[in-house]
Amino acid sequence: MSKVGLFYGSTTGNTKNVAEMVRNELGADNVDLHDVAGAGPADVGGYGILILGVSTWGLGDLQDDWEAFASSLKSLDGRKVALFGLGDQQAYPDTFVNAMGTLYEKATEAGADVVGAWPTDGYDFGDSTAVVNYEFVGLALDEDRQPDMTAGRVKAWVNQLKVELGLQTETEMSDETLQPPMGGRI
Ligand SMILES: Cc1cc2nc3c(=O)[nH]c(=O)nc-3n(C[C@H](O)[C@H](O)[C@H](O)COP(=O)(O)O)c2cc1C
Repeated sequence: MSKVGLFYGSTTGNTKNVAEMVRNELGADNVDLHDVAGAGPADVGGYGILILGVSTWGLGDLQDDWEAFASSLKSLDGRKVALFGLGDQQAYPDTFVNAMGTLYEKATEAGADVVGAWPTDGYDFGDSTAVVNYEFVGLALDEDRQPDMTAGRVKAWVNQLKVELGLQTETEMSDETLQPPMGGRI
């Protein structure tokens, strides 16, 4: 598979940890990890597939390093982009993972084909700019209130991405997901 560029910004380390989980689920050899604090526009150039990870700060703002880096998301025509966002649904119920919504807007404006939408079931929040057509535009995670759910959500989302990005063939999928028939003779 062609290399994926995973770009993240993280203030206290939560988004960084998730970025590493996503990389490991995709296979470490397949992913280049970039902390946007040390990246520039040229780093975005080479990848056909981008994964962008961001936490929300202030009241619905981009994480600080993303504030500076977001303008690097230009000319993404024909490129696939997947998003994940971290937030706190209880303390910030009306701006939950808004930064993911901001990156979604920037990526679509730049012509990207955004994949990896995720259901809102299982979260309890009031409003989010990251919800479009009743779904999150990418994977929403809450390390403050639902840390035990993160690993399972990441695993399921990465499996979904593999299919949506065509990184895994149907045969591989069915081999992996094929269950023995219930009540079958041993
Ligand atoms: C001052 C402050 C403001 C925050 N604002 C928001 C917010 O508006 N929306 C939200 O969903 N989460 C908000 N959060 C929660 C963070 O996004 C969350 O803790 C996240 O896991 C931090 O990730 P990071 O360590 O990778 O930056 C805020 C947290 C703090 C401390």
